Amino acid sequence: MASWDPQQYERFAEERARPFRELVARIPTTSAVAVVDLGCGPGTMTATLAERWPDAAVLGLDSSPSMIAAANEHRTAQVTFQLADAAQWRPQRGSLDVIVANASLQWVDDHETLLPRWAAALDDGGTLAFQVPVPSFDPGLAGVAARERWAPLLAGAAGSTGPRAASPVLDGAEYVRLLSAAGLTVDAWQTTYFHVLPGDDPVFEWFKGTGLRPYLDALSGSDLEEFTADVRSELRQRYPREPFGTLLPFPRLFVVAHRA
Ligand SMILES: C[S@@+](CC[C@H](N)C(=O)[O-])C[C@H]1O[C@@H](n2cnc3c(N)ncnc32)[C@H](O)[C@@H]1O
Repeated sequence: MASWDPQQYERFAEERARPFRELVARIPTTSAVAVVDLGCGPGTMTATLAERWPDAAVLGLDSSPSMIAAANEHRTAQVTFQLADAAQWRPQRGSLDVIVANASLQWVDDHETLLPRWAAALDDGGTLAFQVPVPSFDPGLAGVAARERWAPLLAGAAGSTGPRAASPVLDGAEYVRLLSAAGLTVDAWQTTYFHVLPGDDPVFEWFKGTGLRPYLDALSGSDLEEFTADVRSELRQRYPREPFGTLLPFPRLFVVAHRA
């Protein structure tokens, strides 16, 4: 499995935290005893769920050992973490009040099967809330990976943790239909964040912590150096440095589905 680097991921912690907060702010569940953060990453944001629902046991799940190791720094009597693959996770029917998945489901296949299963795990009054990048958004990584020089080397890394031919993310309307059919009331919206990033090659650094990771993990030696140079150059052209910083428009899709 491709490795995640919690330190690289947290370089843009504030920009990454904002969608999480805006997602959680829309969750209507007022009291909760069981809250799960699916794909919790380094656990920084999971800890904030304990403030929102002080009476709940908050469990962060993630399939990356390095992320769970970092998350365990935030462990308390109320907030715990476990290594688990979201695709295999089978919560008991009616056992949960809140399921949050921020910026993680784009790494998990087969939403058509998983989301109804998770919806069934919600108790009355419970909410499933997730945020994913809009599936049509390609900052330029897929274009470079598809070049003749790279396609044969990167095709072997395809799969649920590798470069993806197609995103598993559905569009907003499909999520509304799927979760309404599962008996939930759905609030879905899209927002583009216009991040202004400081420093050199910040868009490369941003995606190095997320979307680029599977490509980089599939290469080594001079191939890795050359591919990295190609991606840097592509991203510099697409996202030039401006007097105020580097502008990264990032479209995100939010879904908050509530069992009345
Ligand atoms: C972009 S990070 C988001 C972290 C956190 N939710 C946040 O908002 O900062 C994506 C996380 O999803 C996790 N992930 C990817 N595939 C997963 C899976 N199948 N099951 C559980 N976690 C997964 C990764 O290990 C990573 O920590």
